[in-house]
Amino acid sequence: MTDASETPSFEADPYEKRWIVVSLILLSAFMITVTIAGFALGFQVPGAESRVDPRTVADTAPWNEPGLRDLGNNEYAAYIISQRFAFIPPTLTVPAGSSVTFYVTSIDVQHGFLLSDTNVNMQVVPGEVSTLTVEFDEPGTHDIICNEFCGTGHAAMAGKLIVEAGGE
Ligand code: CUA
Repeated sequence: MTDASETPSFEADPYEKRWIVVSLILLSAFMITVTIAGFALGFQVPGAESRVDPRTVADTAPWNEPGLRDLGNNEYAAYIISQRFAFIPPTLTVPAGSSVTFYVTSIDVQHGFLLSDTNVNMQVVPGEVSTLTVEFDEPGTHDIICNEFCGTGHAAMAGKLIVEAGGE
């Protein structure tokens, strides 16, 4: 039988206690920044939306007709195929005020999908569909850049997203 009134004591070295406190403060700070980034600033983690067969994806809908789909209400879906050493289609044009969901996949090796002047930066892996949704409020041109080394033509692998004035 143990004495219930006897609570186990935790004796820690004062330095240890200080570092425990510091760790807890850091953890709380990280949790707060992640919460603010995710809920207030709209940061998204690029997700593998679905799996596809890289050998047949280019012949399978919707990838057999890569490009934009107008979903109405200023919403678009962009189906993009990455291959050595191009994005297909190389240029997309949407009106300002659009919300575009990118569905990017690769038919050969791993590529990157970075959209200049936005926080879009996704890895594109054969067999997976990487997806992110972005709102384009201001007219302008964004470069689509492959930022993962994919072979000899890697440096030339780029596309463009044009946001035209005149959208609602
Ligand atoms: Cu594709 Cu680098």
